[in-house]
Amino acid sequence: MLELKYGNPLNFNRWLAEHAHRLKPPVGNQQVWQDGDFMVTVVGGPNGRSDFHDDPTEEFFYQFKGNAYLLIWDRGRFERVDLKEGDIFLLPPHVLHSPQRPEAGSLCLVIERQRPAGERDAFQWHCANCGQLIQRHEVLLQSIVDDLPPLYERFYASDEAARRCSACGVVHPGRDYPAWHAQLERAQEAR
Ligand SMILES: [Fe+2]
Repeated sequence: MLELKYGNPLNFNRWLAEHAHRLKPPVGNQQVWQDGDFMVTVVGGPNGRSDFHDDPTEEFFYQFKGNAYLLIWDRGRFERVDLKEGDIFLLPPHVLHSPQRPEAGSLCLVIERQRPAGERDAFQWHCANCGQLIQRHEVLLQSIVDDLPPLYERFYASDEAARRCSACGVVHPGRDYPAWHAQLERAQEAR
């Protein structure tokens, strides 16, 4: 009998139905196979965030249901990459990105690689008003489940002075990502 580390092919639609409860808030994502070199995850909406991820490896996206977008911080500007239903996209390493999934019921297949030994991920928080970097935290990522919550908590727990923009004085709202997006919208309207 053939024994394969990650098991036999599985029916993706059946898998989705079985994990539907995990693919919405408060969890919002589920990894398909554990311990593979490919970390294959399905991410559901609605969800938003204000952090920007600096991944040392590529990330593959297949937005197979509903629409989402990536906010990108690039050369001093916020840019937007739409992930429309049916889109596939390969994000190069070290492009600072912040996935936004405003639609309930939206689903995206995301494939990342295990990080090569010693390669660090980082998460950055920027001022919504002017773009200035407020905090950057680096991590040797072993587990998406265990390593990220403490890093986020470190930022959320930092006091107002540590979240205040050194360039324009606006305070990053921390955990309250809708407030951060509202700041960003106001700043872009004012431009
Ligand atoms: Fe600022």
